Amino acid sequence: MVETRLIDGKGFAEDLRRRIAGEVADFKASTGVTPGLAVVLVGEDPASAVYVRNKGKQTLEAGMASIEHKLPATASETEVLALVEALNVDPAVHGILVQLPLPGHIDAQKVLATIDPAKDVDGFHVVNVGRLAVGAEALVPCTPLGCVMLLKHHLGSLAGLRAVVVGRSNIVGKPVAQLLLREDCTVTIAHSRTRDLSEECRRADILIGAVGRPEMIRGDWIKPGATVIDVGINRVEKPGGGTRLVGDVAFDEAQGIAGLITPVPGGVGPMTIACLLQNTLTAARRQVA
Ligand code: GUN
Repeated sequence: MVETRLIDGKGFAEDLRRRIAGEVADFKASTGVTPGLAVVLVGEDPASAVYVRNKGKQTLEAGMASIEHKLPATASETEVLALVEALNVDPAVHGILVQLPLPGHIDAQKVLATIDPAKDVDGFHVVNVGRLAVGAEALVPCTPLGCVMLLKHHLGSLAGLRAVVVGRSNIVGKPVAQLLLREDCTVTIAHSRTRDLSEECRRADILIGAVGRPEMIRGDWIKPGATVIDVGINRVEKPGGGTRLVGDVAFDEAQGIAGLITPVPGGVGPMTIACLLQNTLTAARRQVA
């Protein structure tokens, strides 16, 4: 029986945001510039509205300017592209985030490709994806950055560790695999067509759940003592009515098997906005330098 310890992402993110607020204050004092983050929300998706509200609040708390553009779900692709182009040339805006998903009639890849890569604080532009892949200076996607920060904080060097990433999305799976490779892990990306998925997972020293399927990764898929990072945030019905949030990992089953595990909520989730603030400050520094 392994003693399973929790990774406190909420506490880590609070410390990180405090550190960033201090750095923002120094940056403002030395340059006279306030870093600005513009967020574009198209439509009324309730989960997106909650994220955007939290982003705005935490951006202001860090001493940065928050610029919010809310467009109706009926906004045309041309209108969204024109807004992004205006933000690209606005000197008060150092970071641009277009909240995903976009309504179906808007080509998300086209919108992301229009963002100035220097202001692409989500790290989704192909130029930043390519820079990350070749090891050049990039803006790196926020959730993957948060995962690797937590891992390095708890494990120190990740060199030589076997990492299995379950999920191959552009937002989490692929970029977290790139970051782990940069830390000298041996990386496997598993997905819905992977054969013997549980066997692949059992080889992992670091197991990342990023599929968006509630509790798909079972306790007996985890190698005893492994570190488990659960990126999933899934809302499920409770037996007695109401809903609760669960991750991609069966958390209760992982107790006594995993060495370290992130809870849901309170694990990876809070790291995303903290890393977004970090990226906004990084982008502002590079633009003002
Ligand atoms: N929707 C869900 N996660 C994200 C994210 O990290 N960035 C953006 N822009 N949209 C999202």
